Amino acid sequence: MDAKHIAQRTLDLVHRPRRNRRTEWSRRLVRENVVTTDDLIWPIFVIDGENRRAPVASMPGVERYSVDEAARAAAHAASLGIPAVALFPYTDPDLRDAHGSEALNDQNLVCRACRAIRQAAPDLGLITDVALDPYTSHGHDGVMEGETILNDETVAILVDQALNQARAGADVIAPSDMMDGRVGALRAGLDDAGFQHVQIMSYAAKYASAFYGPFRDAVGTNKTLIGDKRTYQMDPANTDEAIHEVELDLAEGADMVMVKPGMPYLDIIRRVKETFGRPTFAYQVSGEYAMIMAAAQNGWIDGDKAMMESLVAFKRAGCDGVLTYFAVRVAEKLKAQG
Ligand code: PBG
Repeated sequence: MDAKHIAQRTLDLVHRPRRNRRTEWSRRLVRENVVTTDDLIWPIFVIDGENRRAPVASMPGVERYSVDEAARAAAHAASLGIPAVALFPYTDPDLRDAHGSEALNDQNLVCRACRAIRQAAPDLGLITDVALDPYTSHGHDGVMEGETILNDETVAILVDQALNQARAGADVIAPSDMMDGRVGALRAGLDDAGFQHVQIMSYAAKYASAFYGPFRDAVGTNKTLIGDKRTYQMDPANTDEAIHEVELDLAEGADMVMVKPGMPYLDIIRRVKETFGRPTFAYQVSGEYAMIMAAAQNGWIDGDKAMMESLVAFKRAGCDGVLTYFAVRVAEKLKAQG
């Protein structure tokens, strides 16, 4: 067949979806979801010392910051327009004990970082993690009796942990522990202490996931963790259970809910958003970050494009925002694009 002959063979189509995709202006016009800096929450790892930055081997491009460096980094994030940061400590192993008592110390890394960041970036949202794992000698999110993670005893400690953080200036308390009833207890505890304005972002549907590995390197719990977290974090096979967990947390007073991990659980995000219509977040966790970075460093994927594509996927699934280690890189990229 010659070229002229091929050209004559046009199909008689009414619908040609490619028409809308032909030019950049048109693609922009019909675009349904957009990632903006307002969607980003940046998790920051805090370490002891001064003027100190320590890389995380399994998270290329992520550094742990001493309190002063964390304040500088947070101020930079704020200047880019990132609404909030989420703080996670690497606690000195000598300070870890069976009950995670360092979590209640008002001079612990998270409290010091809260105060320093508040000074450096007064209008930046401060989200603090409520769970005992960075503070316990056994690496679990709660206290143990034998091999059991005690629920109600843990919840009582978590309330004290949250109050300690609220006194240090935390704006949002984010329980990642998956104990039953902790959101209600936190709400009551905060209200009793005069912290009615402090928000709760609950890790409502948090799965027992292999994708947390690099995070556990960053906070030093891969070494300490005894066993696994399957008696409190959710079974990755379940979806109705996620709806139940979110329902409970909202009923107990959660202001915002989170699904974690992110990309392998987009179906859960979609269901949660459609069922409840409340502020819904995803945590693009350390293993998701590590996979994109590792493939990019090998030259197997375009890292920047994969980063942006992964984030728009969260928006498409119904997220109002995403906790992501890419936050600063995304914000810088968006700023450069104008
Ligand atoms: C623990 C906690 C974990 C993460 C956030 N808070 C790990 C775990 O449950 O063991 C994971 C975050 C990430 O992987 O980026 N309370």
